[in-house]
Formats: sequence, C-alpha cells, structure tokens
Amino acid sequence: MSELITLTIDGRTVQAAPGTSILRAALNSGIYIPHLCDHKDLTSVGICRVCLVEIEGRRPTVSCMTPVEEGMVVRTSTPDLDQTRRVNLELLIANHDYNCESCAKNSHCQLQKVTRFIGVDEKRLKTLRKAPLDQPLDTSNPFFQRDMNKCVLCGICVRTCEEIQGDACIDFAYRGINTKISVLGDRPILESTCVSCGECVARCPVGALVPKQAEEPAYEVETVCPYCGCGCGIVVGARGGRVVSSRAVEDSPPNQGSLCVKGRFGLGYVNSPERLTVPLVRKDGELVESTWEEALSLVADKFSGYRGDQFAAISSAKCTSEDNYVVQKFARAVMGTNNIDHCARL
Ligand code: FES
Repeated sequence: MSELITLTIDGRTVQAAPGTSILRAALNSGIYIPHLCDHKDLTSVGICRVCLVEIEGRRPTVSCMTPVEEGMVVRTSTPDLDQTRRVNLELLIANHDYNCESCAKNSHCQLQKVTRFIGVDEKRLKTLRKAPLDQPLDTSNPFFQRDMNKCVLCGICVRTCEEIQGDACIDFAYRGINTKISVLGDRPILESTCVSCGECVARCPVGALVPKQAEEPAYEVETVCPYCGCGCGIVVGARGGRVVSSRAVEDSPPNQGSLCVKGRFGLGYVNSPERLTVPLVRKDGELVESTWEEALSLVADKFSGYRGDQFAAISSAKCTSEDNYVVQKFARAVMGTNNIDHCARL
C-alpha cells in the first residue's frame, strides 16, 4: 500500500491516500467543506464551485478536483473565500424553487445544509437574473417524480446513471439559462431507457428527484432484501407496523450501496392485506386456512404417489443458491427426475 500523504487543513494535521481530493480528505477527517456536485461514489467534476478552499501559495481552488499533496497547507474559510462561495451559491439558488416547507427533501436537503453554512445575501439574490421556474412536474415514472424547478444542475444523477447503473438515460440538455437534465427527445422519463432503479433518486442532493411514496420512518432495521438470492443488504424503515422506506446498506458486499427497482421501491407487498401469512389447503373445492403440519403432510402424501417424469420441480429466484441446490437434489435423487426449472427463466 502506498504511503499516506500528510497535509494541514485549518491547522489540523490530516493524512490521506495519494489521489484523494482535498474535499474527501477533509470530510474523512471530520472537517466540513460545503459541496453539492461531489459524491463519494462518483467521478468529481467541479461544477458547483461551492467547495472552494485556499492553498498556501496558490489561488483559491475547488477542493473536490484537487488531489492532496505532501506538506500542503489548506484553509477552508477566509473572508475572501466565504464571499466568493456565497456568490457562487447565490447563482445556484437564483434558479431554484424555494418551497422548502412542502418539499419532500426538507431537512435532508444538501442545498439547505450548504446555505445554512455559507449564508446568502438576500438583497443581492433578488437582483439576479432568474430562469422561469415553469418546468412541468414529470410524474410518469410509477416510483419517483422529477421536478426540474428544484434541480441545481449538479449532474450527480447523470453520473450515477452512467457510472453506477450503466444506463446513461439522462444528460444535460439545452444551453445557458435553459440548461436542464433531460432524456432523449426531452420526453417523460418513463419513455426513456430508465430502469427505475432509483440510484439517482437516492443520490439527488435536493428535491428534484424524490420517491412518490415518501414517509419518514419511525425506526429502521437492517436486513436482507427478500426479492432474490443475491442477498443485498437493505435498511427498511417502518412506521405504525408498516414498511414505508428502503435504502441500501452502504458497505454490504453483494450490493455495495446499490439496489434494484424491486429492493428500493417494491416492498409495499409486506403491508398488503391480501398477502398469504398461513398455508391454505383446498377442501371441497375451497381454499381454507391450515397449519404448516397439515399442509406439509398433505404435500408429502401426494409426492409419494409420483415417481420419475411424473414429477417436476420449479424453484424460485427468491431462494438462495443453497436452497435451489437442495431442490434440484431432491428432484433428482429422491423423485428420480431431471424435470427441474426455475422461475427466473419463465
Ligand atoms: Fe466541488 Fe461542486 S463540490 S465544485
């Protein structure tokens, strides 16, 4: 492993691996530098310019794009720096729909956090040229909505779609004051190649991309996604006995902070009153509730009447590899058939 680089940030000695940006080195050491367009999972692009720092002997620079160097002396706040950052932030805010009270991201919004930290000059803000905030709300996707009036053009959604999902269904469109994030042909997102994974929604720093069903959970539980055998780590939020949210476990080895559409948006079935919670056995043509003992004995009795190719087994993608191994073993070794299939092929 290469040697760590030692630098000073606001008088504190900080160490970081070569290639680490000043921003990440500071954040990892508990020193906050305001930032909007940088995300730890994505390539840095230096769009928002609110992460400015001063490096001794140099001009102010964007900390997300500048790698640490041995002996570097960095200051994250000086009167000049604060003033420049404030102007950069005001230029971003001028084109942002400020209905924070009714916004689903209220109190989780990175723009609010950055604004609280940097502050704005309300008088100057009023004098800035503003883009008309009349973009229609895109509600075409069944799981999330897009409000481009709240977008700060950080490009995190664009890079997420390309670098993490490999889909690249969204990009910057138009120019100047008309710039916005759009899909091919500027159509509703449902008509694009979007696979509804929600990776962009999870990373959007503002209220531009939010889930349609967003309820604050009363508590969260870390568990494993029930949908397939991958075993993705999820944090499920519950409220009043209902599942209301789901997010990925950051360091879970199978999914490493990502989820598919089912794991992120598809857990509502847990709350369904139609969900089977006890086995049902058909009696006189009617399905009636039964015990597991009765149901399993019935199945075992029925199985004993068949052998060889009279029997077939279909297993499930929701089972683990080990479960599926046992099913095929049972079918071949006990029931004597190779008639084995799997729901993922259906
Ligand atoms: Fe550095 Fe946006 S976080 S320019």
